[in-house]
Amino acid sequence: MNILFIGDIVGRSGRRAVRLFLNKIIEEYDISLVIANGENSAGGFGITKKVADELFGYGIDCLTMGNHTWDNKDVFNFIDKERRIIRPLNYFPDNPGYGWTVIEKNSLKIAVVNLIGQVYMNNYNSPYHIFKKKISDIKNNSDIIIVDFHAEATGEKLTFAHSVDGKVAAVVGTHTHVQTSDAQILPGGTAYITDAGLTGAVNSILGMKVEKMVEKYITQLPVNYEVATGSVKLEGVLIKVDKNKALGKQIMEIKKNN
Ligand SMILES: [Fe+2]
Ligand SMILES: [Fe+2]
Repeated sequence: MNILFIGDIVGRSGRRAVRLFLNKIIEEYDISLVIANGENSAGGFGITKKVADELFGYGIDCLTMGNHTWDNKDVFNFIDKERRIIRPLNYFPDNPGYGWTVIEKNSLKIAVVNLIGQVYMNNYNSPYHIFKKKISDIKNNSDIIIVDFHAEATGEKLTFAHSVDGKVAAVVGTHTHVQTSDAQILPGGTAYITDAGLTGAVNSILGMKVEKMVEKYITQLPVNYEVATGSVKLEGVLIKVDKNKALGKQIMEIKKNN
């Protein structure tokens, strides 16, 4: 089974990239399931119902989130009902929404799990402890497991991936919006990349307008970030999964731009 994981979609430009390139990628690589990180999909901060529906309409099957999950308050109106959107599993247990979900495709049940890191991030619960607690439940309800590990530090992402190597089909890193060149199959068979990349404006800083970011760093005063415009790109990874072993067979970086 071929799964596409799309890196953080930033604002209108990111959504335009999905609209322009996703169908072609699905055809070219015979993709059966599309997962994307949507934490920045509404104006760069969070997600709304309208934006989520737009992305599902383009062919995305499941949206993962991250530290920007709650930025747009509209999320509270639907995250408890919309099982195709997940927020980090290691948030406080009473938080709204779900940390993992199961999507059915080609008679297979694919569990998608969202976790968030602890290094240079907010004070989240341990992803290791919660994963250990939930893994048998997730396994009992699915055939294949894909993890979005949303974190800043490269070492933290790779360390988590090694800790679950052989137990899940893939660990895909998100959050830094810069695609890394380390896509690999770990010794136990888990597909891995440190960061899937950015889906948004090419001429940008992590998807946002260059001038605003430069101003912020020079003045150290608060500025209103704006989503960058112009040419757009879609970045992500193609993961080929051996459905019998429930492990990764191949992982490769995907990049399309106009
Ligand atoms: Fe992001
Ligand atoms: Fe993030």
